[in-house]
Amino acid sequence: MPKILVIHGPNLNLLGDREVDVYGKVTIDEINAELEKIAKEKKVEIEILQSNHEGEIVERIGKAKRTVDALLINPAAYTHTSVAIRDAISATRIPTVEVHLSNIYSREEFRRTSIIAPVACGQVSGFGKDSYTLGLLAAISLIKNKKR
Ligand code: DQA
Repeated sequence: MPKILVIHGPNLNLLGDREVDVYGKVTIDEINAELEKIAKEKKVEIEILQSNHEGEIVERIGKAKRTVDALLINPAAYTHTSVAIRDAISATRIPTVEVHLSNIYSREEFRRTSIIAPVACGQVSGFGKDSYTLGLLAAISLIKNKKR
């Protein structure tokens, strides 16, 4: 079964309680349950990691080469700062979909630059929890197209 690694970056463990006007009331557990449901339907395996630590994220991506078929990542604040996460994606060449709950281009200036976007296959931004479900479908499609 193809495997997709799902990574939630810093502070996403606080969803549901955190800036609900921006991120809504959805919790990370609800998002994960929805992803698990789609994965089951589409017959893919998913592994989910939430981490507030850049190094932990870098290490998990580094170990994913040849064992993971695609990466679905919301790098959260690291989107705008982490050359290390970008380099891990670029080094492993794992097909990557970047997702954001909010539309990062309609918010503060500092959020309008994604350091990750140039090494991702694509990005889904601004659809709340649907950004993740759309992103997962995109990741599944990347895997299928690769194998064709
Ligand atoms: C976010 C957007 C980021 O700018 C922010 O730092 C987050 C969440 C989003 O999902 O909209 O933590 O990635």
